[in-house]
Amino acid sequence: MTICLAGLLLFSMATSILSDETVTALSSNTTTAERKKLPELYQDNGDGFIVIGHRGAKAYYPENTMSSFRGAVKRGAEMLELDVQLSKDGVPVVFHDAKINRTTNGNSEFLSKFTLGELKQFDAGSWFNKKFTGERIPTLEEVLKYGKNRIALNIEIKTEAVTDKLHDGVEEESLDLVKEYGMSRHVLFSSFDYRAVKHLKELDPQIPVAILYNWEQSGELMPSQLVEKYDADVFNCSRRELSKAWVEDLKSHHIPFFVYTINQKRYMKSVIKKGASGIFTNKPDVLKKVASKLLSVE
Ligand code: G3P
Ligand code: MG
Repeated sequence: MTICLAGLLLFSMATSILSDETVTALSSNTTTAERKKLPELYQDNGDGFIVIGHRGAKAYYPENTMSSFRGAVKRGAEMLELDVQLSKDGVPVVFHDAKINRTTNGNSEFLSKFTLGELKQFDAGSWFNKKFTGERIPTLEEVLKYGKNRIALNIEIKTEAVTDKLHDGVEEESLDLVKEYGMSRHVLFSSFDYRAVKHLKELDPQIPVAILYNWEQSGELMPSQLVEKYDADVFNCSRRELSKAWVEDLKSHHIPFFVYTINQKRYMKSVIKKGASGIFTNKPDVLKKVASKLLSVE
């Protein structure tokens, strides 16, 4: 069943009520909430909370590989997070680090120095476990093909790939692919580089985009001010960054927030109780259980 993440806003409104905000304040901010462009999930249990598989299910599979994405889906992820940058010949590929040595059998070189054909020669699985030998670096296109009609995607544009250019960069190349696969309503873009957030919204104001909090680019601005400034829809930050003041600011402006990367039950519980609309985890199966218990839907 396809469920619009607008439900998440209703959920955060509900948690706001639980945390003593008035119903009047909620309804007066409905317009702000309605302005947000939020992705639709392909499946959801109606609890208004998203289990996001970080680089797939990184605890059990080699990160950012097709095995990891398939495994995350099997283990209950409702959205997959993946990192995207460009190969030397301009193809969006799914890879986290700037250099290839940690998660492939390649040496300490920058990913951007290799063409797609060259990148496909590397083994992206055996470093994690021999049983994943032969795993390849996926392209964004391969993941879109897999995700379509199955699972929503959070496409994180890596800072390494971002430039000042609006056209022909990683943002436009990735957005074009998303459109080609008819996935526009089922993706959430995000980036630590706010230029990418701006570019994506300039290229398509309808595409859902999250600010990934970066203190160096934020000055003294609060989350709601950043979201407003960059015309973003969602605010993403780390568990440690999420202060009480930020939670209050986000909730009072009815801005959905997703928190990374949480693998321990006690932190999952506390962040869900704070009203997060989603959590990035390397263990989607664990988060799924925790969320089901806390947010049981009749
Ligand atoms: O998007 C959430 C999280 O993935 C951001 O950090 O370094 O794991 O890409 P990183
Ligand atoms: Mg990431």
